Amino acid sequence: MTTTLAKNIRNEKRKKITTRSFRLKKKRGESITMLTAYDYPTALAIEKAEIDSILVGDSLGMVVLGYENTLPVTMEDMLHHCKAVSRGAKIPLLIGDMPFMSYQSDIWTAVENAGRFLQEAGMDAVKLEGGRERADAIQQMVLAGIPVMGHLGLTPQSVNTVGGFKAQGKKADQAKILVEDALILEEAGAFGIVLEAVPAQLAELISSKLRIPTIGIGAGVGCDGQVLVTHDLVGQFDKFTPKFVKQYANIHHVMQEAMIAFRQDVSQKNFPTESHSIFMNDEEWKTLLSELEK
Ligand code: KIV
Repeated sequence: MTTTLAKNIRNEKRKKITTRSFRLKKKRGESITMLTAYDYPTALAIEKAEIDSILVGDSLGMVVLGYENTLPVTMEDMLHHCKAVSRGAKIPLLIGDMPFMSYQSDIWTAVENAGRFLQEAGMDAVKLEGGRERADAIQQMVLAGIPVMGHLGLTPQSVNTVGGFKAQGKKADQAKILVEDALILEEAGAFGIVLEAVPAQLAELISSKLRIPTIGIGAGVGCDGQVLVTHDLVGQFDKFTPKFVKQYANIHHVMQEAMIAFRQDVSQKNFPTESHSIFMNDEEWKTLLSELEK
């Protein structure tokens, strides 16, 4: 059996993950898994690992495009990468992250931009940052048939107003606002909420108050699921690693070792070997030489 066939048979048995699967998992007390991807091969690997959901996060800006923060990421950047991911993964719930200024200016622009993720880029849902101030936009998106995931706590697109990448909700008054915001997002129709860098007790409390699942990143074990930036998880982004990341591999190191070995092989003429080379057969070779002598 070819690998592709085996993969297809396996995928046939695995059902597409939907927002309903998210709700059912929460009901059954089963943890939801989510990872970020920005390209086709990573999407393939995530699907094979049987992760429930892929977030094409605007973290793209930092871990792939080399920006200092997520603010420069555009709709076109996001759609380009979402398309690659949707070509690679069919089973996980695919969520496209709405970039800075694609949903903040007015509700109808927000709905139109959200629609592009589904219509042009093969996403199943979108995610956007913010609390009560986003409720109207979320409501209209859901009415238009676009599933929306909220994002509370550390919201990187607000880096300039909150003064850096800082944990949120450590003070009781801030925490109360987060609880209220979570309930408002649920009421507006969000199918889930990412909780980023908030105290574990608070995330657990919010999760217990909501019918929709929470997906934590730096928010403790009391959330209904967990998400990590794949580049952090596999150690591909070595600029910095947030405290809440568990690094399962060091791909950056593996890549460097391989590249150094390549450089050494080439400079010592150990690569390519005969097995990496293509040869003409003797007859063709002799014909060529005699033709050239004429
Ligand atoms: O952009 C992103 O990758 C995210 C996750 C950190 C949740 O928003």
